[in-house]
Amino acid sequence: MSPSAAIRTHGIRRSYAARKGFLFNEIVRTDALKGVDLEVNSGEIFGLLGPNGAGKTTLTKILSTLLLPTEGHAEVLGLDVVKDAPRLRPRIGLVLGGERGLYNRVSARENLRYFADLYGVPTAERAGRITEVLDRVGLTESADRRVEEFSRGMKQKLHIARGILHRPELLFLDEPTIGLDPKSARETRKLVRSLVADGVTIFLTTHYMFEAEELCQRIAVLTRGRIVANDTVQGLSRLVGGDRTLEVEGYGFDDAEVEVLRRLPGVSRLKYEEFGPRIRYTLRVRTSELTPPTVQASLPGHRELAIRERRTSLEDIYLDLVEEEAA
Ligand SMILES: Nc1ncnc2c1ncn2[C@@H]1O[C@H](COP(=O)(O)OP(=O)(O)O)[C@@H](O)[C@H]1O
Ligand SMILES: [Mg+2]
Repeated sequence: MSPSAAIRTHGIRRSYAARKGFLFNEIVRTDALKGVDLEVNSGEIFGLLGPNGAGKTTLTKILSTLLLPTEGHAEVLGLDVVKDAPRLRPRIGLVLGGERGLYNRVSARENLRYFADLYGVPTAERAGRITEVLDRVGLTESADRRVEEFSRGMKQKLHIARGILHRPELLFLDEPTIGLDPKSARETRKLVRSLVADGVTIFLTTHYMFEAEELCQRIAVLTRGRIVANDTVQGLSRLVGGDRTLEVEGYGFDDAEVEVLRRLPGVSRLKYEEFGPRIRYTLRVRTSELTPPTVQASLPGHRELAIRERRTSLEDIYLDLVEEEAA
């Protein structure tokens, strides 16, 4: 393992067996991870991006020693996540988020006291450390209020405060902005950036491309248990052929017309979507020759076409990757 690698995984697989059926006598296996290899550099924000059910939480739990892999192995901070789990745990932080995992009847400060105790923060340092993390996440003023009065965003900040209380070198954040209002989500992203500025390595999962793009140096796209891309934001932009996108919208296309669109010179992908009665074909285009007028001219019989040109976004690339795998 190179000295700068904070995480390295080799062929991680994980399957779940769940009982289903009338008498719960049917065992259904889900292969949540189907051989994951990746490397995260020390000091970076690494984004694991994927739709719901892709396996993000499963991988996060394996890397943070909460769950055992079915196959393969992973080293985090140079330690094996299975064999060295007890030595690894004090050096990492995990924020799974959501409403669970906090004590609602007591204050934020009391929650942190409990966790400081659990994490073995030395007694003499405890109060100071709690004040420091409350300040860090912007909860100083609400520190002595009961958590049940907290908004979703405040609870998420408290989760992060809990996750950094023992000063981990590496922090796992599983969908840290899910369910937050836009302002809280922005504050959370700002907090993530400030942590990395202090030298904490961040492994973050999200299903929002823009969030990964905004925060992360490198992004791996996970879909159905497989990594389908792993690159820098710039590298991802080059991944899918062509950087122009044309949207062709109309009220119904026959097979011959669709074939014409597909065969236009420079078209690398064609995507179909319905918007009520309107149908939209999105064309990923590699050449600069194909323009709205040339597309219009290729479908002479088709009236009421609306053709728009726009830049291909990373969101488009992400959707291409995810849809390609699903197809
Ligand atoms: N405890 C479990 N038992 C059975 N199946 C599970 C369990 N946890 C997750 N899964 C399944 O594994 C797949 C990956 O889930 P998960 O890791 O939660 O994905 P993500 O976090 O990307 O949404 C999904 O198909 C999910 O239904
Ligand atoms: Mg998840």
